[in-house]
Amino acid sequence: MTYSTASLGQTAIEFIQVTKTFSDRQQRVLNAVSWAIPKGKTTVIAGGSGQGKSVTLKLILGLLKPDSGQILVDGEDVVRMGQRQLRQLRTKFGVLFQGAALFDSLSVFENIALPLRERTQLKETEIRAKVLATLETLELSGHEEKYPAQLSGGMKKRVGLARALQLEPEIVLFDEPTTGLDPLMTLEIYHLFERMQKQLGYTAVIVSHDIPKVFELADQIVLINKGEADVFAQASQIITSNKVHIREFAEKTMGLSLPAA
Ligand SMILES: Nc1ncnc2c1ncn2[C@@H]1O[C@H](COP(=O)(O)OP(=O)(O)OP(=O)(O)O)[C@@H](O)[C@H]1O
Ligand SMILES: [Mg+2]
Repeated sequence: MTYSTASLGQTAIEFIQVTKTFSDRQQRVLNAVSWAIPKGKTTVIAGGSGQGKSVTLKLILGLLKPDSGQILVDGEDVVRMGQRQLRQLRTKFGVLFQGAALFDSLSVFENIALPLRERTQLKETEIRAKVLATLETLELSGHEEKYPAQLSGGMKKRVGLARALQLEPEIVLFDEPTTGLDPLMTLEIYHLFERMQKQLGYTAVIVSHDIPKVFELADQIVLINKGEADVFAQASQIITSNKVHIREFAEKTMGLSLPAA
């Protein structure tokens, strides 16, 4: 397989010949895949249900181990890390998974402050200043005393993002971050993600079903299908691929009708 991200600069994460199976060894969720995720850019991981998108994110965090291959984060192989190194590794990451996973019994303020309380020695006044600044950036000012149940779907996602960004992560992983949102709200959230990524400069990896919408913010697209991964610099390249399964994806999922190959 050929892949090239040279034009996008430095690499944050690299998969090298990664194979992943579960109990059914014959079925390779990932079959010797290789790709690089450029630093400070947005990579979108797409593919049908059950193709290995969430598994890919778990491999990056070292929550799952591959059968073989290397997974480099800032040049260090996650696969070979012990528990202590993995804990250290995870401090580089912010994660925003489906449902935003807010604590229902905590206010918006306390949800966002949580990582600061758990992971830093900041004083109360510093925590307050940091959380209020984030609330402002994410257009949540005035909602800090509310509880998750009182928030709209889009607000919950924003609080989730605010919390994920508190420790100033180098890399932010998103798994289906717009689940449950209507199309308009989905678009708004993506625009917000784009603004935040540009403003803070972190590496974003977004797994999403919102295709082709989410491709608008992608600097790179990784398509996973039947154990194979293909990398595209632009959505428009997907359309012109001569691989059958990619043409199918473009037709069925992107709703494009293509000329015969
Ligand atoms: N812990 C696990 N044990 C066994 N099989 C697993 C495990 N996690 C994932 N799988 C299998 O690996 C495959 C890929 O799963 P994954 O969750 O990555 O799919 P996905 O691309 O995220 O799908 P979706 O879009 O539905 O979220 C599936 O066949 C799934 O059943
Ligand atoms: Mg998934």
